Order: sequence, then structure tokens, then C-alpha cells
Amino acid sequence: ALPPASAADLIAWYDRHHRRLPWRVGPAEQAAGRRADPYRVWLSEVMLQQTTVAAVKAYFEAFTARWPRVEDLAAAPDEEVMKAWAGLGYYSRARNLKACAERIVAVHGGRFPETAAELADLPGIGPYTAAAIAAIAFDEAATVVDGNVERVVARLFAIEEPMPAAKPAIRKAAATLTPATRPGDFAQATMDLGATICTPRKPACALCPWASACRARAQGIAETLPRRAAK
Ligand code: ADE
Repeated sequence: ALPPASAADLIAWYDRHHRRLPWRVGPAEQAAGRRADPYRVWLSEVMLQQTTVAAVKAYFEAFTARWPRVEDLAAAPDEEVMKAWAGLGYYSRARNLKACAERIVAVHGGRFPETAAELADLPGIGPYTAAAIAAIAFDEAATVVDGNVERVVARLFAIEEPMPAAKPAIRKAAATLTPATRPGDFAQATMDLGATICTPRKPACALCPWASACRARAQGIAETLPRRAAK
């Protein structure tokens, strides 16, 4: 029997190998007392909903330089925000972004609600984005499952049921891994693991902090998971 996957092992890997991204407060900075700014976490997560990390970076830098706080974005003319969003696509995200900023200022006094449940009531914030913001900005032990994380978890637990039917089983398995300490770093660590090590093709299992716990690797089927239903 394989040992269970340890959140602490993944966090230790993240401390060394995390991607330096403009919206992130790295482990060393957090240890020095710096907190993630919920506005920046929210903005990055909305941009990342349907757009790659590589494409989002420059837009994130431009938005935060021009509108450093949620009040600035709320006060900006709609058409300026839409123009700045041009190129990112899925423009309903930009309309919701503006509506959400206005609501945070008008209803919440400029402060983001701190729980996933409250965040999910806001425009443009679905269950995934609410969980990501709650974990990363407010240390809620929320389970954050995007496409990268689905792949990591399907392999770790050798979940052979095809997608999308496997989603509930994957989410359940992911919830058993989520730690009470540093849940935001844990969430971002699983994303980074999926993006850099546990890749769709040719996963770099030799470099993976969870290799010894990975059931798919033990069975030699890591690269075949998650399965897709035959068309
Ligand atoms: N994709 C969505 N959210 C992300 C994050 N916080 N870091 C890296 N990739 C992401």
C-alpha cells in the first residue's frame, strides 16, 4: 500500500519551486508578514478563468498600475475598463468585473467578503473563483479544483472514471487533501504542480513531491489520466 499524499510535502516543494507570478505573495514574503491583497487575488482569478497565465501577466500589471484599488476600478468609466480588457476575450467577465467592484464599494464598504459562501454571491464569482479567493486571500480551508488540479488528483488517486463524470469523485478526493494551514499556498501549489510537473503529456514524475504517493504512477497509468469518455 502506498503512503497517503502529504500536504506538507507539497507545501515544502512549493516553498522551493513556486512560480513567481505578479499577483502572488510568495512564501518568504508571507513569512515576513505580508498578506495577499484580496483585490489583486480577485482580479487575477477572474482574468485566469478562461485565459492562460502567460497571457494574463501583462493585463494584470496594466490593470493594477492604472486601478490600484477596488475603489479605483469601481470609479472608472465602463468603456475604459472594456478597452483595457480588449484582447483577453470573454467580455462578460469585464462587465461582471466592473459590476463586482461597484458592489464591493457600495454594499461592502470597499472590503471583500472573507468567506467563499459570501464571495460566490458577487457578479462573476462562481464556486471555483470564490474558493480560490477565500483560500489565497483569507486562509479559508476551501478546496480549489481547476483543470490542472483535476489532473493531479485523478492521477494521485488513480481515478479511472472518465471526465466529466469523475468530477464529483475528484472533488471529494481533493477535499481530503486540503490542509487547515496555508490552504492558499496549498491550492496554488497544486496548480503549479499540474502546470509544471504533472503535465498532460510526459509528466515529470521523477521531480514530483507526491511521486511516492501516486497510485496512477505505481500502476504505470499516470499519463492516461484523467480519461475522457469515448466520443
Ligand atoms: N490559475 C488560476 N489561479 C491561479 C493562480 N493563483 N496561480 C496560478 N495559476 C492559476
